Amino acid sequence: MKTPIPDYLQLVLNYCSQDNPGETAQYIPELADADPDRCALVLSTVDGEVYGVGDTDVEFSMQSISKAFVYALALEEHGIDYVVSRVGVEPSGEAFNELSLEHDTRRPLNPMINAGAITMHTMVGPPGISPEERFERILSGMSAFAGRDLSVDEAVYESEIETAYRNLAIANMLRNYRVIEDRPLDVVRGYVRQCAIKVTTRDLALMAATLANSGVQPITGEQVIGPDNVRQTLSVMMSCGMYDGAGDWMSTVGFPAKSGVGGGLIGALPGQVGIATFSPRLDKHGSSLRGVRMCKRLSDDMGLHIM
Ligand code: DON
Repeated sequence: MKTPIPDYLQLVLNYCSQDNPGETAQYIPELADADPDRCALVLSTVDGEVYGVGDTDVEFSMQSISKAFVYALALEEHGIDYVVSRVGVEPSGEAFNELSLEHDTRRPLNPMINAGAITMHTMVGPPGISPEERFERILSGMSAFAGRDLSVDEAVYESEIETAYRNLAIANMLRNYRVIEDRPLDVVRGYVRQCAIKVTTRDLALMAATLANSGVQPITGEQVIGPDNVRQTLSVMMSCGMYDGAGDWMSTVGFPAKSGVGGGLIGALPGQVGIATFSPRLDKHGSSLRGVRMCKRLSDDMGLHIM
């Protein structure tokens, strides 16, 4: 990893970590115990120059950041029209784990909230695929975005599945309305496993840079997904990626983003750069508090707001 602009990135990191607000995700025991003071900031340009400071190589679970990439993989497999017929693209204005569906169509409102993401998980792979095969497809797709073989944090998986009552409720609701056809327990296991995939902040910056680079991984050169599907994924990240904090994020930071309760946060500026931050202290929306601060500071300093 190169560091020609470390002083500036270090300054941003220090500036955003002066106090200690927010706490680790309390509803997943293994995440509750994470070191709250880890912090990292990494940028990857679309031609694969990577700049980072802080705990850039510490691994943590992707959690909801996985939703953006699984959405991209489902789009690649089924096309935009079919995917949108199953899960909408409207911001819900609600918490990420709300038990909600569109009233008239019974579709989940968008693929970034849990109801949409659990549905989207079932859309990777052809109908009838086994849960194990589906997960392998997801893991290899994520690995292609990262440009290295990723694996699962089994402790995080076990810890979340043990208490996944709410996601099971969501999956049962989805099965009741036949939004999903698979067994709710299998689907939740697969979805929770997808959320437990381990990444570093550097991996996330490259994954975000792949989106910023029209779907071409900057280092391996692989076209992981097509440009139309990148546009669709980034559009949904822009309107729904920060849940009930999406409007505030869009007006103050202003680029497509996705957060996860593991403390990761990604942003993508098409044609320019992928941004990733890590700090497990969360705000009330379940997004990394210092991550949001760091992105705001970068956006202010470098004029990254897309407007
Ligand atoms: O399903 C859940 O509750 C977690 N596996 C993921 C939630 C999450 O990351 C929300 N995002 N900030």
